Amino acid sequence: MLLCVAAGAAAVVPKALPSNWKKCSRDNPKLRECLADATEHAIKEMSKKGAKGLGLFPIDPLFLSRVDIDRGDGRTNGAVAIDLHLSDLNIHGLRHTKVLNVAEADISNYHFKMFVQVAKGVTLKGQYKMDGKVLVLPITGEGKCEISLENITAHIELRGNEVIKDGQKYGYMADWKFLLDTTRLRMSFDNRLNSNKQLGKQMDSFLNDNWNEIWQELRDDIQEAFSSAFREIFNRIFTKIPYDNLFPHHL
Ligand SMILES: *[C@@H]1O[C@H](CO)[C@@H](O)[C@H](O)[C@H]1NC(C)=O
Repeated sequence: MLLCVAAGAAAVVPKALPSNWKKCSRDNPKLRECLADATEHAIKEMSKKGAKGLGLFPIDPLFLSRVDIDRGDGRTNGAVAIDLHLSDLNIHGLRHTKVLNVAEADISNYHFKMFVQVAKGVTLKGQYKMDGKVLVLPITGEGKCEISLENITAHIELRGNEVIKDGQKYGYMADWKFLLDTTRLRMSFDNRLNSNKQLGKQMDSFLNDNWNEIWQELRDDIQEAFSSAFREIFNRIFTKIPYDNLFPHHL
């Protein structure tokens, strides 16, 4: 998957957090609460404006060039067997992200864990190309699609280590875990080639009635798409801002 959240060359010029972002001293006795608040604020700031100094484009909408979901990978052996190729996707809604909890902020061991939620959900709008079957019905088509994930939650865990570049200490987040969940998936696909209008309507309601099975099929790939996008954003921040500037001893 190609990502367009990041722009600019990777020269090692030490940067600082944008001046209007909230900062947390590592000696803050309420460090986890401070980081939850600062992260949520940073996501809001990045939503519309990005962070030019760090080479980050705005993230609401967040652009993903492709997400490919293949039945060939052995996961899809139930009622749903589709190859679904999504492209030119714009993901809307990340500005409503809440950081519910920072469960771990172990600065000296480069270990962070947080739980985030977008209660309002996000909507993926873009193009799709689909080929496969649902039950015994062949289902093919291409055109516009809209996929809504209501009330999404994500568990994010980062583990890293120290890296020295040009005499500066940076945190390198080598290990990254990202688990995504939703309480409801809704889909609408335009232009299924082989379906007449009536069949198309029935298929839409069938897909939406069986959203949980569809979600189980799509989940790994959608999770991976979100995960890569956020990993890229976090890495931009960690590789450009010296660790002691990110988490200063004093403010
Ligand atoms: C949203 O998802 C979380 C985690 O799955 C759940 O605890 C919460 O009850 C959900 N809220 C709504 C409004 O569905």
